[in-house]
Amino acid sequence: MRMYDIIKKKRDGMELSKEEIFFFINRYVKGEIPDYQASALCMAIFFKGMSAEETFSLTKAICESGEKLDLSGIKGIKADKHSTGGVGDKTTLIVAPTVASLGVTVAKMSGRGLGHTGGTIDKLESITGFNTELSEEEFEKTVNDTGIAVVSQSAELAPADKMLYALRDVTATVDSLPLIASSIMGKKLAADDDCIVLDVKTGSGAFMKNIEESRELAKIMVDIGVRAGKRIAALITDMDKPLGNTIGNSLEVIEAIETLKGNGPEDLTELSVALSANILYLAGNGSYKECEKKVRMSLKDGKALQTFIKMVKAQGGDTELIKDTDKFPKAKYSRNITVEEEGYITSVDAEGYGMSALLLGAGRNKKDDKIDSTAGIILRKKTGDYVKKGDVIAVLYANDQNLFDSSEERLLASTVISEKRREKRPLIFETLVKMDFEG
Ligand code: URA
Repeated sequence: MRMYDIIKKKRDGMELSKEEIFFFINRYVKGEIPDYQASALCMAIFFKGMSAEETFSLTKAICESGEKLDLSGIKGIKADKHSTGGVGDKTTLIVAPTVASLGVTVAKMSGRGLGHTGGTIDKLESITGFNTELSEEEFEKTVNDTGIAVVSQSAELAPADKMLYALRDVTATVDSLPLIASSIMGKKLAADDDCIVLDVKTGSGAFMKNIEESRELAKIMVDIGVRAGKRIAALITDMDKPLGNTIGNSLEVIEAIETLKGNGPEDLTELSVALSANILYLAGNGSYKECEKKVRMSLKDGKALQTFIKMVKAQGGDTELIKDTDKFPKAKYSRNITVEEEGYITSVDAEGYGMSALLLGAGRNKKDDKIDSTAGIILRKKTGDYVKKGDVIAVLYANDQNLFDSSEERLLASTVISEKRREKRPLIFETLVKMDFEG
C-alpha cells in the first residue's frame, strides 16, 4: 500500500477502504507519513467528503491510535457529554454533578480552551487547589467513592487527533464535516462511556454557523455512536450569543454555582436541564419527562450542588469558595462598557465576545499561553434587550488596565444595535436520540 495511491484515490472521489484509512493513521502517528502527504489527504477529504463507512473507519483508527481509557473498574452506567465549543458554555459544571447526584457515573476527561472558546479544565482550575491531573488509580478511586471526577484529557488518548488537528489548523482543513466528526468521536470512543450526549452548537460563536451544517454534523456523529454500540443523543443548540451572562473562567464557575443553587440565568439553566435529562434518559431512568422532573428536583433540593461540593473536595479544591462565592479571588480592575445609541441589541457576534474576553487574559491564542482565571466579562444586556444611550451593556475584568481598550473595541464592534427587534431564536433547535433500548 502506498500513501500516494490513497491520496490519488480520494482526490478522484473514490471510497477508501478501512485498511487504507488505518494504514494512513497508523503510519502517520509513527512518523512514517510526512505532514505534506497527510495534509494533501485532508484537503482531498475536505473537497470530496467521506461516506458514513469511511468516516466510521477514520473515527475507529483515531480512537485506536493510542491508549484507551479503561473504565472497567468503575461501577455503574457511565455517561459523557461533549460540546462542539462555544462562548460562556459552562454547562459541564452543572450537568456532571446533576446527573451524578441521580446515580449516573461521571468519569470525565475534558479539554482546555483554545481561541475564542473556553474549556472545562481551565474553569475548574480557577477553584483554588482543584487538581485536574489525577493518576489513573486516583481517578478510578475518586469516581468509585463519589460517583464523579473530571480530569484533564491524557496526552496518550487518541494521539492521531492531536497531530491531525494541529495540521488541519494550519492547512485550512478544520471545517470539514467528516474530519470534525471523526476528531470528536475518536476521542469520545476512546473514553469508553456507555452513553454520550453531544451539544452541537450553531451560530456566530460556533464552528458551524448555520443550522443545516450543524444538523449534518450531529447526524454524522450520532451515526458513528450507533455503529460503535453507544446510546447517544445530540442536541443542536444556540450559540449566536454567549450562554449565560459570564465569559471567563472564575466568573463562569461562580455562575455555574449560582445555577446549581437555583439562581442561574434562564438559558443556562434550561440547557443544563435538557442535557442532564437526556443523559438520564439514555442511562435508562424512565421517560424523558420523568428524567427532566428528577433533574429539576435535584437542582431544587440542593443534591446537585452537594455533589459538586463532594467532587471539589475529592479533587483537592477549596469548598469554602463554593459555599460563599464572594471568596473567589477577584481581578484588580474593572471597566463598565456603555453604548452610544438607543435601540434593541439585534445581534452579537459571539466569537467576537469570546475574543474580547481572551484579550483580557481569559483565553489563549497558543496552546502554552498562560491564562488569568479572574479575567473576563459580565454581560448586563444580551440580544433582544432594549438599551438607552449610556446604559452599561457589560463589565470587563482584568489585572492589567492596558488590556481594556482593545477588549472594549472588540466587544462594541461585535454588538449590533438597531430600532428593529429580531425574532427570538430557540435555545434548542432539535434533539436527535438514538439507542437500541427504550427507557
Ligand atoms: N473539536 C474537535 O475536537 N475537533 C474538531 O475537529 C473540531 C472541534
